[in-house]
Amino acid sequence: MPVREAAPVVRSAEPVRLPQAAADAVPAMAETAVRNSASQWSAAEKLDYLRRKNIGNCQRCKLSTTRKQIVFGVGDPEADLMFIGEAPGFDEDRQGEPFVGAAGRRLTQWLGRLGLRRDQVYIANVLKCRPPGNRDPEADEVERCSPFLRAQIRAIAPKVIVCLGRYAGILLLGRPTDTTLREMRSRSWRYVDPSGAHEASLHVTYHPSYVLRREQELAPGQRNPADDTVMSDLQQALSKIRVGAAAPQNS
Ligand code: URA
Repeated sequence: MPVREAAPVVRSAEPVRLPQAAADAVPAMAETAVRNSASQWSAAEKLDYLRRKNIGNCQRCKLSTTRKQIVFGVGDPEADLMFIGEAPGFDEDRQGEPFVGAAGRRLTQWLGRLGLRRDQVYIANVLKCRPPGNRDPEADEVERCSPFLRAQIRAIAPKVIVCLGRYAGILLLGRPTDTTLREMRSRSWRYVDPSGAHEASLHVTYHPSYVLRREQELAPGQRNPADDTVMSDLQQALSKIRVGAAAPQNS
């Protein structure tokens, strides 16, 4: 008998309200007016407000002292398909765009094999600032930064989210921090925003950096099974958009 997965507990994060920054500076009535008009904003306008007013020159965690710049996200604000990685690395910190280094080039290749360009999807990370030396994200950093990712997801409202690596999967599925990638990949999940404002089909696959590391262990020209695995995961994710299939439940 197949073992049924327990419904994931979505970790509650402090909600990001669009006019949050303005709330400190303006009377309640003005805040309400901004809130009301925000419901009419386009996805691009919501993302812009989130980036400039809510995140601003963020100092909410220690990464603000070592980053060169905040790496917000890139792509089509109305994309059906959203990729979420871990955190900016060296190249991203310098260029201000996610996935532009070696891992990013592999992600761009994957998209190309699917007939997609980077500007047809949206790409973001769990953390918006680079951890020094590309170390793993720490719990307090994820806690401080994740409300912005959730707000980004609400603004974009993608049909399908692809988590690249464990960190994004663990966060968005509310799984324990020792959950392995193997436990999350090869099936589709349902992402539900804590406010209930948005739902999407969610898939977890290998991070491109892991795939590149595996490649280095292979003989030249040898096929990389991890790369094939990602392609099959991405095809599965994309099929949710292309055929408009009903999204699965988590239990
Ligand atoms: N790795 C990530 O997880 N994100 C990036 O933007 C780059 C590398």
